[in-house]
Amino acid sequence: MELTPSRAAVMQALDAIKDPKSGQGLAMAGLVRGLSLREGRAGFMLEVAAADAGLYAPVREQAEAALRALPGVRQAQVVLTAEDTPVAPVPPPPRRATVAEDPRAALRPTPTATRPDHVKRIIAVASAKGGVGKSTVAVNLACAFARLGLSTGLMDADIYGPSVPHMMGVSGQPRLTADKRMIPAEAYGVKVTSIGLIVEPDSAMIWRGPMASSAVNQLINEVAWGSAAEPLDVLVLDLPPGTGDILLTLSQKIAIDGVVIVSTPQAIALADVRRGVAMFGKVAVPVLGVVENMAYFTDPATGAPIEIFGRGGARAMAEEIGVPFLAELPIDIALRQGGDAGAPLVAAAPESATAAAFMAVAERLRG
Ligand SMILES: Nc1ncnc2c1ncn2[C@@H]1O[C@H](COP(=O)(O)OP(=O)(O)OP(=O)(O)O)[C@@H](O)[C@H]1O
Ligand SMILES: [Mg+2]
Repeated sequence: MELTPSRAAVMQALDAIKDPKSGQGLAMAGLVRGLSLREGRAGFMLEVAAADAGLYAPVREQAEAALRALPGVRQAQVVLTAEDTPVAPVPPPPRRATVAEDPRAALRPTPTATRPDHVKRIIAVASAKGGVGKSTVAVNLACAFARLGLSTGLMDADIYGPSVPHMMGVSGQPRLTADKRMIPAEAYGVKVTSIGLIVEPDSAMIWRGPMASSAVNQLINEVAWGSAAEPLDVLVLDLPPGTGDILLTLSQKIAIDGVVIVSTPQAIALADVRRGVAMFGKVAVPVLGVVENMAYFTDPATGAPIEIFGRGGARAMAEEIGVPFLAELPIDIALRQGGDAGAPLVAAAPESATAAAFMAVAERLRG
């Protein structure tokens, strides 16, 4: 058993570092948020205003050094959650412009958005509503890209409820390279990392959107996804639910090439998709398409599809608003079991019909 230092000992060590603004110790000054102590690893969020990010960069270094100096700490990670300056108001779109006219016409790269090193493409998986199967889609889509031979990464950006590590069957703290980049875990040919491996999800619950997106932005850039010789072809981002400000702020920082929207067939979920598409249009993230999840259930006795929530709504809506309709996925117990067991269906049963549907989506999005 490894001896992890007590929270008190950690707070005391951090108090030896002075907050340049108040002159108090970091813990006293209330700057230590979301302290996580696990398996020889210590980390926390240093919450400062964006204007102070430069001022606190050396403090972050000092804090990491102080944590590393504690007996029982092998790795330390301090995330500077420099709060973003508010996003400039987006001018309303011209009255008649719709996504259907030309999905790319209104798209201009956000000037500040950057791409993590050695990552060619970033595809985000999002939904307005929670629990519609975003993570399931993200995980299986990533496995499908890997099966197509693409060098693939998967990042769980759901700071409020990370589930990718469980679904991919990875655990443990990431190791670091000599230049302090995180080495992603690897499963089913996919490089996996999760914000949930870095910070305590419970403490993340209290973060406001800008802090969360700032943490995601920082972490995505601190992962050794690939190298100049072997870049990552595609990085799949599993986003937290909601059309909230996390995506808004994230897309200002990270060059997201496109978003896949997951929905269930209920009318209320479809209404959320409309809202989502409108919002992605505002932040100039191209909508790559809509996946309708839990579209129907196959009667085990007859093999006939049972359309629990009605069928075809997402397809019709996608057509109407002019975004591609990518797939209709059934309610498939094996899909859930694969997630629960940490063995995604696409990898565990690639010959199944549901896996084939994911492969078709990956083919279409492979770029
Ligand atoms: N097509 C499906 N058939 C059967 N079970 C499914 C299907 N899609 C998702 N599930 C199950 O539904 C649950 C929710 O799915 P998932 O975690 O992927 O949703 P989510 O949108 O990522 O949720 P959250 O908003 O909490 O992040 C999981 O238990 C998952 O295994
Ligand atoms: Mg999820």
